[in-house]
Amino acid sequence: MRLLVTGGAGFIGSNLVHYVLAHTEVEQLVNLDCLTYAGSLENLAGVTADRRYRFEHVDLRQREEVLGVFERHRITHVMHLAAESHVDRSIAAPADFIHTNLVGTFHLLEAARAVGVERLLHVSTDEVYGSLDAHGAFTETTPYAPRSPYSASKAASEIAKRFNLNRSDIYQRILTMKGQDGA
Ligand SMILES: NC(=O)c1ccc[n+]([C@@H]2O[C@H](COP(=O)([O-])OP(=O)(O)OC[C@H]3O[C@@H](n4cnc5c(N)ncnc54)[C@H](O)[C@@H]3O)[C@@H](O)[C@H]2O)c1
Repeated sequence: MRLLVTGGAGFIGSNLVHYVLAHTEVEQLVNLDCLTYAGSLENLAGVTADRRYRFEHVDLRQREEVLGVFERHRITHVMHLAAESHVDRSIAAPADFIHTNLVGTFHLLEAARAVGVERLLHVSTDEVYGSLDAHGAFTETTPYAPRSPYSASKAASEIAKRFNLNRSDIYQRILTMKGQDGA
């Protein structure tokens, strides 16, 4: 497996990179991250010497650069975590959320389709379904009801993935996560 992890310098992505390198027989793990305020290579100090690990300082908004990563590293599997992810920031300045979470995801999906990757996991958020009371529950058929530019951009990125599914043979899944505490 030649795995691309996007957002591998972030909170969840960096833990994932450590876990995959420690627990799987991955041939190569490429971390694509443009290092926004949320990303730090210090999170990855423990893996830089691993010969299976490569870092690509690439922005998902740069379509040709994203495709280049897939081609250079002959990527076969993708775990897509890179995102603008903070709700309050999205309310103050939504543009980056649309550009990274929707357009950037579209670039990633197009590149994955172009090179014919085998599997793609798209990490999303339960916030695409809106809010719950104390006893409620979401299911996979709950209608989208995003309440912030962040959750709207993540819902849109899920829809982009769904139409990509109909245009390729890639085995694709969406992982809809509940909030994790990174504080
Ligand atoms: N943390 C949570 O509680 C939570 C809950 C549900 C879902 N999620 C989802 O999980 C994923 C990871 O969350 P996190 O908390 O680790 O996020 P994070 O904000 O800590 O990390 C995001 C990473 O993506 C990178 N990135 C941002 N824009 C990019 C771009 N244009 N090109 C390349 N890299 C870019 C950043 O540099 C950073 O390293 C996200 O998709 C998020 O929506 C997170």
